[in-house]
Amino acid sequence: MSIILSLETSCDESAAALVSNAKGKIDLLAHEIASQIEEHSNWGGVVPEIASRRHLENLPFLIEEVFAKTKLEIKNIDAVAATVTPGLTGSLLVGSITARTLANLHQIPFLGIHHLEGHLASIYLAKNHPKPPFLVLLVSGGHTELIKVDAQHKYQRLGRSHDDAAGEAFDKVARLLGLPYPGGPAIQKVAKFGDPKKFLFPKGRVSKPGGGFFPYDFSFSGVKTAVFRQIEKIRSENKELPIADIAASFENIVAEVLVERSFRCALDQGLNSIVLVGGVAANERLRKMMLAKASENTINISLAPMEFCTDNAAMIGAAALLRLTSDNVQSSMELGVSARWPLEKSDLLYDFNPPF
Ligand code: KG4
Ligand code: ZN
Repeated sequence: MSIILSLETSCDESAAALVSNAKGKIDLLAHEIASQIEEHSNWGGVVPEIASRRHLENLPFLIEEVFAKTKLEIKNIDAVAATVTPGLTGSLLVGSITARTLANLHQIPFLGIHHLEGHLASIYLAKNHPKPPFLVLLVSGGHTELIKVDAQHKYQRLGRSHDDAAGEAFDKVARLLGLPYPGGPAIQKVAKFGDPKKFLFPKGRVSKPGGGFFPYDFSFSGVKTAVFRQIEKIRSENKELPIADIAASFENIVAEVLVERSFRCALDQGLNSIVLVGGVAANERLRKMMLAKASENTINISLAPMEFCTDNAAMIGAAALLRLTSDNVQSSMELGVSARWPLEKSDLLYDFNPPF
């Protein structure tokens, strides 16, 4: 049995968790999140300098809290993990240095975790989770990707956004509508009262240089511009802005595109299982539409548990446990942090000579 202390500080959530594999499966012992969202929402988005400072202030309390909740002590821990890429470098450094310091002090392994591998691992926190191979739709504030997982830690990216990530589009459209940051939950809230068919926004396809379209790729900047134009038009006519209808129509088209392209990709690739993870996976309309489409096909849908869709340390702990127990690896203490790093190359985070 292994127990891991995991930390997440890649963006605007500071988080700590204790996970173990005591019962032959991933067992979440405790997890804590200190959200900075309220503070950043005053600025309309994440302010990197504030984020790193808050991580530094929050982490000791969060770590103390997960130990207090489980009555465990640092001497009971087998490894410490932290997100090391991708994210805001100053923020990543806080989690990574804290983890390496604890690992060094207590002479236990340190594991640097790829944030997207963390999101992928959030599915293992669900009661009934599938085993690879499956197709993952990863939709967050920074990424919109279709990833084929052949076996544990064997990734192939089949689709991606060429401009804004889905979450980023939610955040930008929310701002256009005068709704608070983060935009996803704010849009979802008002969209409940709107007509999703009121406005027909574009589906944003990505052209191939030689003609045709990339079937599994996304583009969300066009839909954002279409929303902007619609708002300008209504304002120029001195009419009241139908915020709920615009929000519902936007949410609906984004969900429709995500569902259509994921199923097309899974069917073409002969995969009968789709997994939905990341912050935008918390969207109720998207979850419902995914399940509805699955009932028309022979494809099984697995949704990340709602509380583990947005950033948290439980998913980082789950990813670390899988690395530690199935691959028996650890990271070099020399491993630093990086704003960007491809998921396909996450094996290199456990190299004796780390890539960054
Ligand atoms: O995964 P996450 O917490 O952070 C990143 O790794 O990016 O995702 C945050 C993103 C934000 O853009 C936020 O607006 C979006 O997820 N989001 C949602 C919902 N909850 C969070 N988007 C749509 N509907 C939601 N309910
Ligand atoms: Zn994330």
